Amino acid sequence: MAPREVRREAHAKINVFLRVLAAREDGYHDLESLVAPISLADTVTVREAEALRVDVRGAERLTGDVPAGGLNLALVAALAIGDACPDAGGAEIVIEKRIPVAAGLGGGSADAAGTLLALNDLWGCGLDLATLAQLGERIGSDVPAMLVAGPALVSGRGEQLAPAEMASFWWVLVHFGFGVRSPDAYRWWDEDGGARGPDPEPLLDAAAAGDADALGRHLFNDLEPSVFARYPDIARAKEGLLSAGALGAVMSGSGSSVVGLAGDEADAWSLAERFPGSLVVAGPPAH
Ligand code: C5P
Repeated sequence: MAPREVRREAHAKINVFLRVLAAREDGYHDLESLVAPISLADTVTVREAEALRVDVRGAERLTGDVPAGGLNLALVAALAIGDACPDAGGAEIVIEKRIPVAAGLGGGSADAAGTLLALNDLWGCGLDLATLAQLGERIGSDVPAMLVAGPALVSGRGEQLAPAEMASFWWVLVHFGFGVRSPDAYRWWDEDGGARGPDPEPLLDAAAAGDADALGRHLFNDLEPSVFARYPDIARAKEGLLSAGALGAVMSGSGSSVVGLAGDEADAWSLAERFPGSLVVAGPPAH
């Protein structure tokens, strides 16, 4: 018998590197990125109900910017799986928000992925991961990567996945009260001449080996120069993390968040003391 309530942690992600390859005809950009889940997560709970509705709960500073209507990605996800699942009914979807919004941490995509997985169980749809990923990529480029529990090397517009090996590292996450819209960040990259970062091979080796010093030296994100030029606060956060002793620091996704890499958990907590409101996270979370 199908369960009456399903609860899922919807983990945020960071982009350990993000390399933009080229603008495409369809308005997207081909990219390569190592996407790692982090310990910070929203909770998605779905329950049987007559109709379909989404309720977003959490601190006002987090939920204020979450779209409540048709643009809510969890609702889009529910409608998408509803179409694909013969046994779909109604559902109450409750999202407890902890992931900052429009922060480059994939919060909306994580909620969408969590909703797909939870409703698949609640409604007994029996859809496999590949089918859920096909539904997910229509919702957002990040959604397929958020369906898998571990780190992924992504390509295409972000929807093509290969499993990646990555040890667990400690990070200090600095986030802001504003977001950066992805379409803007990618358009600025075009306008500013589209610089492309290095071959990520040494970074991938360091991530797999658990070598924080080497990983810190190799972190990069091709969207940084254009975003930093328009949001100097984000550039200052990265400089601040580096001068406070982070082994490396990088903006996640199209911003606005920046993560600083620490050597271990104790270093991460002492680094975080210098950045009020920052969070200490493990990425990927240790099992
Ligand atoms: O797929 P998603 O909804 O996250 O993309 C939002 C926007 O970000 C796209 O419409 C596009 O402008 C930009 N984008 C891009 N290349 C990607 C991913 C996103 O240009 N690989």
